Amino acid sequence: MILLSLKFTVRHESNHAHKHKLQQKFIIVSINMKALILSGGKGTRLRPITYTGAKQLVPVANKPILWYGIEGIVEAGITDIGIIISPETGKEVQELTGNGEKFGGNITYILQNQPAGLAHAVKIAQPFLGDSPFIMYLGDNIIESQLGQFVDTFKQKQLDALILLRKVSNPSAFGVAKVDNNGRVLELVEKPKIPPSNLALVGVYLFSKKIHNAVNKIKPSARGELEITDAIQYLIDQQISGVDNEIFVEASTLEGWWLDTGKKDDLLSANQIILDTRITNSINGEIDSQSQIIGRVKIGKNTKLINTSVRGPVIIGDNCYLENCFIGPYSSIADNVTLIDVDIEHSVILQGAKIIEINQRIVDSLLGRRAKLINALQRPKALRFMIGDDSQIELT
Ligand code: TTP
Repeated sequence: MILLSLKFTVRHESNHAHKHKLQQKFIIVSINMKALILSGGKGTRLRPITYTGAKQLVPVANKPILWYGIEGIVEAGITDIGIIISPETGKEVQELTGNGEKFGGNITYILQNQPAGLAHAVKIAQPFLGDSPFIMYLGDNIIESQLGQFVDTFKQKQLDALILLRKVSNPSAFGVAKVDNNGRVLELVEKPKIPPSNLALVGVYLFSKKIHNAVNKIKPSARGELEITDAIQYLIDQQISGVDNEIFVEASTLEGWWLDTGKKDDLLSANQIILDTRITNSINGEIDSQSQIIGRVKIGKNTKLINTSVRGPVIIGDNCYLENCFIGPYSSIADNVTLIDVDIEHSVILQGAKIIEINQRIVDSLLGRRAKLINALQRPKALRFMIGDDSQIELT
């Protein structure tokens, strides 16, 4: 509060350009950054899982994807966090994630009635964001790098937008940036047929309050959304055309991994990388003498393993029952799961699911909450299904 009132004193006294610059610097350094995490959207690419739940709550290594973002933001010293939620999944996100206390932050939930675009999310968050600079983080993205370094660059250079870029082999599937040798962003194009570079926009952005004017000026794109790329392009154009010479838009390139978990295979890759890099040995529960644990494996409370081999990296939650199973590398098994006579690897099994007597190995699979995969006979004469819309079963 003291810093804010000082800020206004300087503003009133100063008309001189040099003083103005000093004042700007003072404001940016002194005002706390906020964070805006986008956890609304439709999640069409992860159906049918997203018919009944938020995609940002799907677990990676048994932790909701969204929480990795919150933890990274708090680690970077930003504790005032707004989370965009949708009418369909907002309650669930709110109930599970809470008021931020468990992360050491303070969370405000902001309801977005329609998934009308990333820039629309910024627009409806204006009352929460006020004049604060902020980091915007897509709730289904996970990045390896720590966010603090980008926050520092943004503050030190007094930027109005800092975007993060990552080299990709298929730039046409992403928002792509054209950047000069000094890291200055010249142009952004959404899913270009002929990409100006192989640098894709990662779902993490840092903005000064100038983004609000841009967001208010742009019109919906051909797909009917207010695009954040259009808002950033608006800032770049203002600078290039000389309307506002004091706008600075730059990019930093990510070296570490970046995972956009919007699709099943991406989610399985995220699961693999997190298990590879962040899982340490910790065995709770009851393991009988016939069972064998090899490599890095985490097993939760009240979980029972009978005649089961587990080859890490693997995580198994609380209250699970596993009998006569082989659990291969890169498997995440959530709480309350039952597996009997199952051979599985590189898969994610959500809470309460049951798999019984499936004779073939299960690979690259994602099983929803309380899903049941049961073989009633040793050599079934027929298969009986009840499968929801957009489900996928491949007998390979
Ligand atoms: P996307 O993955 O681009 O969009 P989506 O969630 O609608 O998914 P799909 O393409 O599979 O239908 O969104 C990126 C993140 O931003 C994601 O966490 C959802 C969130 N989001 C919002 O909160 N509000 C929005 O208006 C949009 C478009 C996305």
